[in-house]
Amino acid sequence: MVALIDGDAHAATMPNFQHLIFVCTNQRDAAHPRGCCNPDGANEIRNRLQAEIKQRGLAPLARACTAGCLEQCELGPTLVIYPGDSRPPIWYGRVRPSDVTRIVEETLIGGRVLEDLHIPPDWLNTRGLGPPGDGANPQPAPRST
Ligand code: FES
Repeated sequence: MVALIDGDAHAATMPNFQHLIFVCTNQRDAAHPRGCCNPDGANEIRNRLQAEIKQRGLAPLARACTAGCLEQCELGPTLVIYPGDSRPPIWYGRVRPSDVTRIVEETLIGGRVLEDLHIPPDWLNTRGLGPPGDGANPQPAPRST
């Protein structure tokens, strides 16, 4: 069998990603009960992230990728940041294009989680209802503009 990539040589010349960011750009009909993260199809969050990463010289070790539905629609627009080490992914919801600079500066560069955007692990895959067992589990209020 022939190896396509020499593992040792590849590791020496190709550093791992420091951040892989998946941005939901899913579009749905406006009447869909779950909503969607990219209603106008402009991909503005992903495009701004990509531009800011490039402008700050963080590429290619940080990359903003287009993703389909990340299944957190009720908390959208959503994105998930996979640090390039063993830390768990960081989920952000209710993201606005104007949040992109903060995400880059605070999270990608500074290593800090933005609490106002953070989706806690026990909220994932709850369709915006939050963890069970604590009462009404109201869907969080939409962010003010
Ligand atoms: S449409 Fe964005 S998470 Fe589902």
